[in-house]
Amino acid sequence: MNIILLGPPGAGKGTQAKRLETRFGLVQLSTGDMLREAVASGSKLGRKAKEVMDAGQLMPDDLMILMIGDRIDQPDCRKGFILDGFPRTTPQAVALDQMLSEKGLQLDHVVEMKADEDDLVERISGRFTCAKCGMGYHERFKQPKQAGVCDVCRGTEFTRRDDDKESTVRRRLEAYHAQTEPILPYYEEKGILASVNGMAEIDEVARQIEGALAGHGA
Ligand code: AP5
Repeated sequence: MNIILLGPPGAGKGTQAKRLETRFGLVQLSTGDMLREAVASGSKLGRKAKEVMDAGQLMPDDLMILMIGDRIDQPDCRKGFILDGFPRTTPQAVALDQMLSEKGLQLDHVVEMKADEDDLVERISGRFTCAKCGMGYHERFKQPKQAGVCDVCRGTEFTRRDDDKESTVRRRLEAYHAQTEPILPYYEEKGILASVNGMAEIDEVARQIEGALAGHGA
């Protein structure tokens, strides 16, 4: 099963992709995480990515299409994947279709995670991540069971994203409305689009997504 999770910044794509990995044995392909790895490596691509991400803008389509194409070719993707953060523009959506058909693959479901804009800013500004294993938390909605200690790896250091400042989040939301939202009708026409309420509790969102994947709508 190959899935796209589509939604604005902070809608919960990463949170739900991690659950789907565990639940269905799929691989999460997050272009945002790939770019953050490039930033951490200090490569030329990483330096460009940092500039673009800190400005709340999108990376060029050709770079992102190459990046995701290489990743889909890795053997672990044969068991199925969840695209988190890709495609983000119409050219990316069209290139993805072409790439998948050349590889004899197809998209099974596109799940739109609908969310309320002001709540998203609160969600994003409260987010933090374990520096050791990458587990995501939130100051209000998902704290570690023991304060200051990661539930998964017991790490005690946490990081915040540079692009999670309110002004940058607002620009990321603008980019979503201008460049990403217009691809929803593309998937609606193909009959593979379902929408879930990304503002519900995390477990409820997961239930709605499972319903959508089972073809029950949501
Ligand atoms: P990317 O990393 O993809 O960021 P994003 O789309 O802005 O999404 P986020 O990761 O911020 O949010 P999310 O929806 O995953 O929410 P999360 O689960 O963390 O992209 C970053 C940048 O990279 C882009 O701006 C762009 O520059 C570049 N880029 C990436 N892909 C690109 C592409 N294809 N083309 C061009 N450029 C590209 O949840 C957020 C918080 O809320 C968490 O703390 C979580 O615990 C909490 N939470 C989640 N669900 C709930 C819930 N139901 N209730 C309460 N709290 C919740």
